[in-house]
Amino acid sequence: MTEIDFKAIDKKVYQILKDDRSYLLEQMKTEPLSISEKTGPRDLVTQIDKLNQKRLIQALSAIIPNSSFLGEETAKVSPLEDLKGPVWIVDPIDGTLNFVKQRDNFAVMIALYIDGIGKLGFIMDVMNDVIIHGGPDVNIWRDNDILEDPVDLDLSDGLMGLSGPMLSRNLNYAPLVEQHSLGARVIGSAGIEFMRIMEGRQVGYYSKLQPWDFAAGNILAPELGLVVTNLDGSKLDMLKSSVVLVATKKAHKDILNLID
Ligand code: IPD
Ligand code: CA
Ligand code: CA
Ligand code: CA
Repeated sequence: MTEIDFKAIDKKVYQILKDDRSYLLEQMKTEPLSISEKTGPRDLVTQIDKLNQKRLIQALSAIIPNSSFLGEETAKVSPLEDLKGPVWIVDPIDGTLNFVKQRDNFAVMIALYIDGIGKLGFIMDVMNDVIIHGGPDVNIWRDNDILEDPVDLDLSDGLMGLSGPMLSRNLNYAPLVEQHSLGARVIGSAGIEFMRIMEGRQVGYYSKLQPWDFAAGNILAPELGLVVTNLDGSKLDMLKSSVVLVATKKAHKDILNLID
């Protein structure tokens, strides 16, 4: 493969997302939502999730020929068996329940892996019009500004993003972790949670996630000195669902010590 210009690709995908935001805002204004349940009333999909995935995949296909795609709303599920070559991982709307109920707090996420190595990640907070993007070869940006590493705070010095079901059902030590933090926040979009941690507004987050929920964050967050692992501290498998923990170095250590 000829040398890939990640800076140029970062620019192109940033523009694709800017255009995508205009498309989504227009759709939200003009089209009534057609909502269906996937596994139950908390797990929704709308026509916009599906249309947006199609649009994004079409636009991204033009950037690197012969890329593969992994997207949440793929009609026929033919899961990728490996991450050979260039693979785009797309979550067309992250936080669909928020999209439907709040019209806020949802993200669009795109990640580019090449032979399993994370190269570029993009998380767009649609309603706040912010995109955090970049990767190991191009720095990490908040729109057009370099994003500095967040302060490495302890768990006891910050807010912790947790999932509602984990807290209410006492799963994965969520109440214990909440008690040792300054407080829990339940946002309902993995992408927005990753953004808050990268911006230094929370010290951590964990939730049961699918590859498209953590693919972009798993590229961006480590470049800012944050740690992303499974909840037992092991390395993530990019093709599997797991309980993913992202946190400052100190809070990550605090959490692993607590649940040991
Ligand atoms: C969901 C959100 C939510 C997380 C769920 C995800 P979706 O994504 O990220 O915060 O708790 O596990 O499925 O389905 O709205 O794209
Ligand atoms: Ca979903
Ligand atoms: Ca998602
Ligand atoms: Ca989604």
